Amino acid sequence: MEVVVRSDAGEAGRTVADIVHRALRNGVRTLGLATGSSPLLAYRELIRRHRDEGLSFAGVDAFLLDEYVGLPATHPQTYAQVIRREFTEHIDLDPARLHAPTSTAPDPVAEAHRYEEALAACAPVNVQILGIGTNGHIGFNEPASSLASRTRLKTLTDSTRRDNARFFTTLEAVPRHGITQGLATISEAHHLVLIATGPHKAHAVAAAVEGPVSTRCPASILQLHPHATVVLDELAAAQLQDLPYYRHVARHKPAGQRY
Ligand code: F6R
Repeated sequence: MEVVVRSDAGEAGRTVADIVHRALRNGVRTLGLATGSSPLLAYRELIRRHRDEGLSFAGVDAFLLDEYVGLPATHPQTYAQVIRREFTEHIDLDPARLHAPTSTAPDPVAEAHRYEEALAACAPVNVQILGIGTNGHIGFNEPASSLASRTRLKTLTDSTRRDNARFFTTLEAVPRHGITQGLATISEAHHLVLIATGPHKAHAVAAAVEGPVSTRCPASILQLHPHATVVLDELAAAQLQDLPYYRHVARHKPAGQRY
């Protein structure tokens, strides 16, 4: 696993934008997108490069990692609305090529199957952007998720609901379920790029990067992936034991390259 430590969140966001930019230049056509706060600076940088440097997303398919179950499609906190507002409305991605589980599907279990199949039809995702929950989740794969899991309906933990309550008026308004790509589904992407910033992520990052591979920390599955890049700011990296080595590597190798 490649661990890239940057001085601040802005630098971390630019590093992720660099990886996506290079992939697009090399002809990549399928991206996996996370929502939440972590990738926002990367998305803003990609929007800027689209506007100022002509970076194009034409012909690209983008798949969301997950979606809440039960929110009306027009609710501002569905992940489909969030990603449109924060990213895809500001670039030239064809709206018909933005894919997400449907939050209002009457049968969420069937919807999860449909989404897994839609993904398989476009697979592989070339670059998959990930955030990490304070409990170590990726997507909505909460602790105890099978490392072999596929896209499915999941019950959200109290800690995830509390973490996400900042986007809702009350804790009660946060949905109790989500549809998420599974850990095995996510692992089929060619390049996993996880971004984490801020001191509240330091514990989960240390568990994911240096802890045992375990369902207790779903993000630890990145240790099994042949091409995983973890981009951190200093605050999120603070609990890593091998920090001096990661800093040394970062000085001698461009982020995201496979060597
Ligand atoms: C969202 C997602 C989640 C978030 C995670 C971190 O699509 O997949 O796993 O990445 O909950 O959220 P933030 O970035 O808001 O701290």
